[in-house]
Amino acid sequence: MLSTTIAGIALRSPVLLAAGTAGVLGEMRDVLDPSQLGGILTKSITRAPRDGNAFPRITFARAGMMNAIGLANPGIEAFVRDEGPKVKSMGCPIVGSVAGDCIDDYLEVASKLAGIEGMAGIEANVSCPNVHSGLEFGSDPGALRELITAMSSAVGDLPMFVKLSPVTVGTPHTIVDLARVAIESGARGLTLTNTVPAMGIDVRTRRPVLANVTGGLSGPAIHPIVVRLVHLVYRGVARDAGVPIVAAGGVTRWEDAAEFVLAGASAVQVGAGSFASPRASVKLRKGLAKWVRSQGASGIGSLVGQVELGA
Ligand SMILES: Cc1cc2nc3c(=O)[nH]c(=O)nc-3n(C[C@H](O)[C@H](O)[C@H](O)COP(=O)(O)O)c2cc1C
Repeated sequence: MLSTTIAGIALRSPVLLAAGTAGVLGEMRDVLDPSQLGGILTKSITRAPRDGNAFPRITFARAGMMNAIGLANPGIEAFVRDEGPKVKSMGCPIVGSVAGDCIDDYLEVASKLAGIEGMAGIEANVSCPNVHSGLEFGSDPGALRELITAMSSAVGDLPMFVKLSPVTVGTPHTIVDLARVAIESGARGLTLTNTVPAMGIDVRTRRPVLANVTGGLSGPAIHPIVVRLVHLVYRGVARDAGVPIVAAGGVTRWEDAAEFVLAGASAVQVGAGSFASPRASVKLRKGLAKWVRSQGASGIGSLVGQVELGA
């Protein structure tokens, strides 16, 4: 009922753990059995180790959470040495998330992650500023094309997902334009989306709640925003290109995952939902399977994009 295949990766469940919300690789094994998951995204890995931003760098918002972790991670060398040997026996597909400041960074990290035995795929987190232009790679079609074309050859046969930001403020390009560029450049899947830029202020101290001043909002607050983006990208480019969408944004209950599927997602990721309820990603499978049956569908794949828009 729930098994599916995205970009050639066979998943037992369409529910994965989102990058940066499940530790570096296998930390969630303490609370759940990975074989009940569709897969795990690693923390975004950069070339050099990063301590991340100053604390506080996570805060709870009324309908979700805000973070400004700043890509704290051990760096590619330590990841390959300490985590790499665990990848093949994690019990579910592992997708390596890559971040960087310039194309060379992305290429080095992507090719080293792709070389780890058992790695199922790569996700390019392109919501990072390009040191050359100051713009995020993911908001600049020229830079995105160059990056994804180069990464596609660096990862060889391994499927690569491109993870876009939900906002394209300051550029004339829509998320559909950027998704099209990613697909034309070799993306085998799209992850929609990263967090929504946000800020909170403690009115008593008059200080920002995050030390970094601004951060990214995730959780139920962003779910309807991302449903719309999945719908637009599915109908605008992904459906015809045959490229699967993996939706991330506020999945905490089976209904959220089902809504994403109807909008056009082939799989979903749970991020903030795991902070509120660490087993949310496995718990929601039961309701999701029941829903698939209640819709008279043979499997979840046949419900992708099946929102009824007519009167
Ligand atoms: C604490 C935290 C850390 C995150 N770190 C990363 C990261 O390293 N790389 C990345 O691509 N996305 C990162 N994200 C974004 C999530 O993967 C996801 O795209 C986003 O939170 C939306 O999903 P959600 O509403 O289910 O949390 C992070 C999110 C949170 C809450």
